[in-house]
Amino acid sequence: MSRYRDDPEALRALVQDDQVHRDVYIDDELFALEMERLWSRTWVYVGHTSQVPNPGDYFTTDIAAQPVILVRHTDGSVRVLLNRCAHKGARLVSAPTGNTGKFFRCPYHAWSYTTDGALLAIPLKKGYDGTRMMECEAGRGMTAVRNVEVYRGFVFARLSDDGPGFREYFGDSLSSIDNMADRSPEGELEIAGGVLRYRHNCNWKMFVENLNDTMHPMVAHESSAGTAKKLWADKPADLPKPMAIEQFVPFASSYDFFDSMGVRVFENGHSYTGVNFSIHSSYASVPGYEDSLKQAYGDERAAKILETARHNTVYYPSLTIKGAIQAIRVARPIAADETIVESWTFRLKGAPDQLLARTVMYTRLINSPLSVVGHDDLYAYRAIQEGLHAEGNDWVSLHRNFSPEEIGKADLTTAGTSEISMRNQFRAWLRYMLPAQETTA
Ligand SMILES: [Fe+2]
Repeated sequence: MSRYRDDPEALRALVQDDQVHRDVYIDDELFALEMERLWSRTWVYVGHTSQVPNPGDYFTTDIAAQPVILVRHTDGSVRVLLNRCAHKGARLVSAPTGNTGKFFRCPYHAWSYTTDGALLAIPLKKGYDGTRMMECEAGRGMTAVRNVEVYRGFVFARLSDDGPGFREYFGDSLSSIDNMADRSPEGELEIAGGVLRYRHNCNWKMFVENLNDTMHPMVAHESSAGTAKKLWADKPADLPKPMAIEQFVPFASSYDFFDSMGVRVFENGHSYTGVNFSIHSSYASVPGYEDSLKQAYGDERAAKILETARHNTVYYPSLTIKGAIQAIRVARPIAADETIVESWTFRLKGAPDQLLARTVMYTRLINSPLSVVGHDDLYAYRAIQEGLHAEGNDWVSLHRNFSPEEIGKADLTTAGTSEISMRNQFRAWLRYMLPAQETTA
């Protein structure tokens, strides 16, 4: 039975100013509506142009739980196509990545398509002479996603024709992507190595919300980061830290540290923690790197780029980035209680290799399926997913530092331990979850 699809009031009742109904995390119908309304009408991260450097290179993924192909077309542009044959609907490409040459060929009846999705050839095509096939959907080839935007190599797509423009959607939050790319003396990033895919048995929002949750590290990560902190506690202050200690220990910082870090929220659910400094601010400098940045940008700009060391930026709903570390995590929802989280690492073009070593170390220690920190978080997400089925309290609290004055503000900076980023996400969530004609009501 459909409770929410045709009932905007029922949807509105799920999100109050300072708390949300538990159904937003556990209800299957709401998950389907999220894919259809929120994930299809917003700009979702697809991949990076460096994953498809040559014509014919492709990468398969999904947007709003729908299979898509990111491909470099013969004219050099990147295209996003639905991974489905126009004939019987068979998935065209099965491999995660590869090069398809000049065309895709369906493994079932060999219908083939150029890399912009146009129908190229059909065996025994004469059999369609005199039929309506070429005027029907089948004759139009693969479905191409019309709204695709490349920002500093990051490819985003909006499935629906209905929705905000790219710049309008992300606004000044794009400065976090700028900072990550500017950290390359050439101003360019490239994906390095493969992906770490990590299946989470929880709702996608638990992961996304946690990225700006600064009240949990000192608790949930006490056993991992806290142990590293104890290990290093009696060492002289000037003793150079091994990279692992340097990365682990800040997770065990105080409440005051995370509160002073600050959080900034933007319209449409985007936000970042680490406005003033972050857990990445005190990493040791890498020999030669600062000089190469100064050479590329001049002293003043180089200093500005390096002192911007944001913690996590959330590009709602799909992408979360760590500019200071050149690592991203991508949320790919599967079901109300199932989410794939992908970790990708970047190389800063023209920068010393030690920076990539730092990124890889961070991803392995904190974000990989074999990390110790990431499991602390997954344990918490799973505990919430199970706990929310308990009766007696339908609500999840987002009250921390709530002020009615925050409502309607498009760009706001406040104390780092506020739950404002989560409230901000749910305000965007509700706006997109309402049927299109209700959105502006
Ligand atoms: Fe965490």
